[in-house]
Amino acid sequence: MSNLNTEKVLSVHHWTDTLFSFTCTRDASFRFLNGQFTMVGLPVNGKPLLRAYSLASANYEENLEFLSIKVQDGPLTSRLQHLKVGDDVLIGRKPTGTLIVDNLLPGKTLWLLSTGTGLAPFMSLIKDPEVYERYERVVLTHTCRFQSELAYQQYITEHLPKDEHLGELVAEKLIYHPTVTREPYRNTGRITDLISSGKLFDDLDLPPLSLENDRLMLCGSPHMLKDTRVLLEQVGLTEGNHSEPGHFVIERAFVG
Ligand code: A2P
Repeated sequence: MSNLNTEKVLSVHHWTDTLFSFTCTRDASFRFLNGQFTMVGLPVNGKPLLRAYSLASANYEENLEFLSIKVQDGPLTSRLQHLKVGDDVLIGRKPTGTLIVDNLLPGKTLWLLSTGTGLAPFMSLIKDPEVYERYERVVLTHTCRFQSELAYQQYITEHLPKDEHLGELVAEKLIYHPTVTREPYRNTGRITDLISSGKLFDDLDLPPLSLENDRLMLCGSPHMLKDTRVLLEQVGLTEGNHSEPGHFVIERAFVG
């Protein structure tokens, strides 16, 4: 298991029956870029059972944090959801991923579009001062079925703007736009519908997407990624990667 570190669980938070997050210790040699993911898991029958998880913590934080769904018959999450403080958890030593600022061309507005646990890499990025240095504004959208699934909402709206180091940048540049699809809420609807109808831009008082100004990162369910990509390509935006930066980058959120 030389490609894995064994870390200790430090805290566990259950957001809903199907969603939880946990923090764990961080090996001194573990380095990552904000927005990346790594393998996370547990030993099962003597072998590591691992899945890719985005880091929800920023790379300067002391501990690591992960956000996960709970799938009752999911091989890993059926076990992971029972983690307790002091338990061991396996963390891959080689983080990777495309949701990094260097994969995007310079622009004015950075859009971070997430559904469900796709929020996780953006929790890391909205704590990164460099993200605010590169963009005039950062818009984080999080779409879930129900309000209760809007994880970290209080942290984003109350804690982060008061953070000693980041507070001023966050208060000036971060726009948080949560939306819910299956119950009444102040913002409702899928992000795809909000983009194609233009309601998203009207509600935020921002111009429609343009090649010149807008850069996007997408993280969510495969269907959301597929449908959003079509909308972005219709406007002429192109996908970026490690070898060639583009207007948008995409990563699939952890699924079952
Ligand atoms: P909806 O409730 O209309 O299906 P899930 O929990 O299934 O991963 O979904 C998380 C959120 O993503 C839900 O609000 C869901 O809306 C939304 N969603 C699912 N599929 C798409 C899609 N193809 N495009 C945009 N949003 C989607």
